[in-house]
This record gives sequence, structure tokens and C-alpha cells, in this order.
Amino acid sequence: MEKLQVQRRKRLVLVPYPLQGHINPMLDLASILHSKGFSITIAHTKFNSPNPANHPDFIFLPIQDGIPNLDVSPPNLVDLASAINTNCKEPFRECISQLMHQEQRHQVVCIIYDFLMHFAETVANQLNIPSIILRTSNATTLLAFRTIPQLREEGYHSLQDSTSYDLVPGLHPLRFKDLPVSSMGSLDNFLQLLAVVCNTRTSSAIIWNTMDCLENSSLARLQEQYHVPFFPIGPMHKMAPAESSKLFKDENNCFEWLEKQAPNSVLYVSFGSIAKLDEKELTEMAWGLTNSYQPFLWVIRPDLVSGSEAFLPEGFQELTRERACLVRWAPQKDILAHPAVGAFWSHCGWNSTLESICESVPMICKPYFADQKVNARYLTHEWGVGIELGDVMQRTEIAKAIRSILVEKEGMQMRQKAIALKEQIEQCMKDGGSSYNSLDKLVQFISSL
Ligand code: UDX
Repeated sequence: MEKLQVQRRKRLVLVPYPLQGHINPMLDLASILHSKGFSITIAHTKFNSPNPANHPDFIFLPIQDGIPNLDVSPPNLVDLASAINTNCKEPFRECISQLMHQEQRHQVVCIIYDFLMHFAETVANQLNIPSIILRTSNATTLLAFRTIPQLREEGYHSLQDSTSYDLVPGLHPLRFKDLPVSSMGSLDNFLQLLAVVCNTRTSSAIIWNTMDCLENSSLARLQEQYHVPFFPIGPMHKMAPAESSKLFKDENNCFEWLEKQAPNSVLYVSFGSIAKLDEKELTEMAWGLTNSYQPFLWVIRPDLVSGSEAFLPEGFQELTRERACLVRWAPQKDILAHPAVGAFWSHCGWNSTLESICESVPMICKPYFADQKVNARYLTHEWGVGIELGDVMQRTEIAKAIRSILVEKEGMQMRQKAIALKEQIEQCMKDGGSSYNSLDKLVQFISSL
């Protein structure tokens, strides 16, 4: 108790990147470190601000970001990161300087920032505060990021949106088409961003939302290249779950519907918070789901279809009424933990991937951009708990994949592997497990700064 009180005088400033898939792990980390006795301040942009009312234990510090109402879609993500890093530096420096003056009894011991919020490191360095990077996606994606400029130098020029099934030298089982570089706008701008985010600069350590049992070999290879300590403490949403900070409102009526479904019978379908489809893809999805004859819970975000509302094909609602539940945003983690859910058709964002394997739910993988193709390849070829869909949505292939994963032997075998993977993850989190030990070391490390 006394130790906790001494610790409480140590304040950590956490700086999330303002997208749902980045805010969630940062708030989970905040909750983990708060449970270890640190005081927490969340310094956040006004754009996509988290809701302080959901986190009464933390102090929230809004930073002026000057971000206009930008359309958050993959080709704009590099520009968004660049605008935030340019606009937030000065306001952040002022906020932290003021905080340091006010906080006489509480010392700001460290700034922990999302790898995309690198302005925070510049400010930390100017103010002589140690900083630590949080990598919200997996280790293999960073390995792949580091390989992209090398491949370019070696003469591989058409890396972006590559359709090649050839394996990338040194990155087995990734193929060129899996490299996390597709749909990210100009390659030159993306490479400039990579040069910054692959570098630790003056930061003292890297915290990872991953674990040894999933990515032992990628973590070991990266540790040879980075000369700062690594703390893989995932899955963070299970280590000390935070009250989620949703940018959209959950529709909880789906639980009443789920209660009526048989165990392992439902396909949960969601493409995260940013991925966008065109109308043709939505139509193919709708008919694929219809023709599978399986119950499904489908999240159709209001902005899921680029440039228009999501119009479902005529006849779809009548044909599927008995076995469909459609929502605009779902309490995903609770849905994945529900016994009726038998599989998850996902865009394979890293959070969705971790949330699914932590509940031993096998996946149908339809990745779109950035790390999603890496995650999908690992799900299907490394961990054996996923079925990959082709690049073009086709109703026949979709219906076949849904039936394979929910009804056929292939799906049963994947569920067995997913159960084994879940057990390994639970071992990592237990006293003596790799994530548990890493967290202990992280707390000691921060306390020693
Ligand atoms: C983004 C990138 O797209 C992704 O590739 C990267 O790995 C993380 O940042 P996003 O696309 O939103 O994230 O996907 P994901 O990582 O899966 O995060 C989505 C989060 O929103 C998850 O925590 C999920 O539980 C939550 N969610 C999603 C809901 O709570 N309800 C929904 O209906 C959909």
C-alpha cells in the first residue's frame, strides 16, 4: 500500500494517436500502469478526443491540433500523422511545461507515446523527460517496415499494391502482396514517415501489445537491431482491461439476438473503424452471407461504404431476416466472448486479431491496408486459425469460406488450434509467464528513470 502511494507521486503522460485502433491499446496501457500505482495523464488531440467521463482515475489534457474535419481513410492516414506531428508539438510542449510547474508533489517521470506521435519524443527530449514508445501493432509489421526501404534499394520498385505471391526474402511467410505498404497514398511520403517511426531516436524503451508466444522470432530479430529494452506485455486488453473509449456508440441490442443462437453458430462480421468498401463489395458480401445459410451479426458503420450510404441489395433483408442482426457499431470484445459466436470475418486490424484469438474464435481474413495483410498472413499461415479470402470479393467464395469455418471439418480443426493458442496466451499472462514478467520489468524500469 505504502509502495503504491510512493508510486502514485510518479506521473506518466500517455499520448495516444487519435484513431480507435490506437486509442484502445493506449487506454489499456494506462489502466495497467495505474493498477501498478502510477498517476496517469492522457494528453490527447481534440480531434477524436476520448471521453474523460469513462476514465475518472486519469487526468485528460487536450492539445490543440488544428486538424480540420479530415476524412479518415487509408490514403489520408500519412497526411493525418504528418499534420498532427507538425501542429501538436508546440501546444504539447506548453501543456507539459505547465504541468511540470503545477505538479510539485507529483513528478512527470516519463512520456509514453504511440509510435505515430513522434513529436512527443522531441518535446520530452527538450524538457529532459525520458520517453518510451508504445507500438500498438505487432512486431512482424515493424520487421516488414524496416525491410521496405532495403527492398527498394535492391531494385524492387513495384512494392505498393503488389499482387505478387512470391515470398519476400527473409520475411517468411510474408509474400510481396502482404507487405504493409498498400493503399497508403504516395510511397515517397510513406517512406518518409517510416524513416521516422522505425527509429527510436532518444526514447529509452519500446512497449509492445504483443507477446512472446505469438511473435517470439520477430521480437528476437528486432531486439538485435534496437538497442533499447523491449517490453512485450500483450494482450493489453486482457492484462488490465480499461473502460473502452468508443468513438462510436455501441448497439447492445445484439445480445438479446445472440442469446437465441446455438453455440459456435454465428459469424461476427466487422471491418474495424477505418476500412472502407465500395458498393460492389458490399453487394458481394451481402449475397455471400445470404448464400451461406448461417446466422450472422454484421457491423455496418455509417461510413463503411466510400462516398455513399451503405445500401443493401434488394431482397437481402427479407431473405436473411430470421438469421441476421445488423448494427452500426458493436461491443466487439463482449461479442467475441459470447458462446454463440463461432467465427469472425475481419479486416484483421491488430486489435481485432488479438481480441479474436484471445477468445479462441477462428477468423475469415479480408485485410485492406497497413499491418492488416501481415496479420492475415500470420493468422492463416503461422497460427493456422484463419481462412484467407481472395483480393476481389466474390459471393461464391465468401459463402464457401463461411460454411468451411462454421460447419465443416476445416473450421473445427481451426477452432482446436485457436483453443490451444488461447491457452498459450493465458500462460503468458499468468504469474511467471512472459507478459507478466515483462510487465514487472517495465514497472521497475519506469520507477528507475
Ligand atoms: C487501425 C488500423 O486500421 C489497424 O490496421 C491497426 O492494426 C490498428 O489501427 P482499426 O482498423 O480500427 O485500427 O482496427 P482494429 O485494430 O481491429 O481496432 C478496432 C477496435 O475497435 C477494436 O478494439 C474493436 O474491438 C473496436 N470495435 C470495432 C468495436 O468496439 N466495435 C465495432 O463495431 C468495431
